[in-house]
Amino acid sequence: MNTASADTPAISRSELGQLYRSRLNKGRATLGEMFGGHIEVASQGAWVMTTNGRRFLNCGGYGVFLMGARHPIVMRAVTQQLHSHPVATRIFLEPQLALAADALVSIAPPGLERVHFTGSGAEAVETAIKIARTLGRRRLISAISGYHGKTMGALSLTANRVFQDPFRPLLPEITHVPYGDAGALESVLAIVPGEACVIVEPVQGEAGVIVPPEGYLRVVESLCRTYDALFVLDEVQTGLGRLGSWWGASRESVTPDVLLVGKALSGGVVPVAAAVATQRAFAAFDRDPYIHTSTFSGTPLAMAAARGAIHAIQEDNLITRAQVLGMELLNQISSIMHSHFGTAVREVRGVGLLIGIEFAGPGPAGDLLIELANQGVIANHSLNSHLTMRLTPPAILSPSEVDYLLSALDRAAAATAGRYTCDLKE
Ligand SMILES: Cc1ncc(COP(=O)(O)O)c(C=O)c1O
Repeated sequence: MNTASADTPAISRSELGQLYRSRLNKGRATLGEMFGGHIEVASQGAWVMTTNGRRFLNCGGYGVFLMGARHPIVMRAVTQQLHSHPVATRIFLEPQLALAADALVSIAPPGLERVHFTGSGAEAVETAIKIARTLGRRRLISAISGYHGKTMGALSLTANRVFQDPFRPLLPEITHVPYGDAGALESVLAIVPGEACVIVEPVQGEAGVIVPPEGYLRVVESLCRTYDALFVLDEVQTGLGRLGSWWGASRESVTPDVLLVGKALSGGVVPVAAAVATQRAFAAFDRDPYIHTSTFSGTPLAMAAARGAIHAIQEDNLITRAQVLGMELLNQISSIMHSHFGTAVREVRGVGLLIGIEFAGPGPAGDLLIELANQGVIANHSLNSHLTMRLTPPAILSPSEVDYLLSALDRAAAATAGRYTCDLKE
């Protein structure tokens, strides 16, 4: 097990807290304190190590670590690239970029053939919005409680006033429809045939793991075809195996016009995301390579990580493992939560390794998250739902790591449940 290397800056907890306060963000410093003030300095597989000699099972990481941290295949690819050619001229041709695009297309739903790489999920969303504009699809339709990031265009789609209000005015001509409600979508699309772009998630992660009715994506696809709308599927969180299938799209055999991918594409090593589009959707970008660029788009180091990530998912059979492990965890987590919290737990739900625990009222999700960290497991809250704690475990968990997770959750639930009565109300 790796620990902090000799190069890790030696800094005390109070000095680091002070630097956070003075140089970064006071609220973020406070949050770190709430979670025990641990200082993380190393990671390997499912584990994160801190300077006080503790280790934590990482079932959070906002969905990045499907293959755990520092997966050997990703590390090998990135290390080789680091020592040969980490950042390109962007004048000459460069092989990693083209090979990464080809690798991504080879696993994408058929018909998606063109790739634009970005540094974050939100930038991939911006790319989709700009593609929509090049096609005259200016009316953007996304779903209530959906999350698409926080750059200005993406934020306009992210349906949460807490994040939006400080930054208005946002993009115009945006409608949010109830998620999972095809009728509501149709009633908006019918008013603007040939003008709309629909952007949804296959499962809403930050909304608190909201799973739509079966067949929803198929109906969305068919409505987009009927009303000549661009169909963008945001798989930044769900894609690359998180749901126990390559894509949420593959669960319903749909092919969007643009598919967005991020998080796990990084291999947990170098940040990277992408928009993967049909040739038709990509036409304007094809004509002019300079209308949508960014200095670090497709940088060879990130491309090596992306290729490594795809290779690792294939080599370690992580899609099937996510599916099998997801079913096992969902059952076990559900029984632990219901046994401790009774009706204070509204629902434990999920697909693959995207699992949400929704409570009947505010309070327990945050308390459980903190207590779970005390017990050695990292999970996440949901940015658009204060009622739901979210677990995104890696697909590489061993049986003993699964036991560790479940017994930590059991202890954390036991320690927290007593504070809440069984008739919590929102
Ligand atoms: C579905 C979805 N889209 C977009 C984003 C934004 O990605 P990023 O935080 O990398 O900008 C996220 C992040 O959680 C996401 O879950």
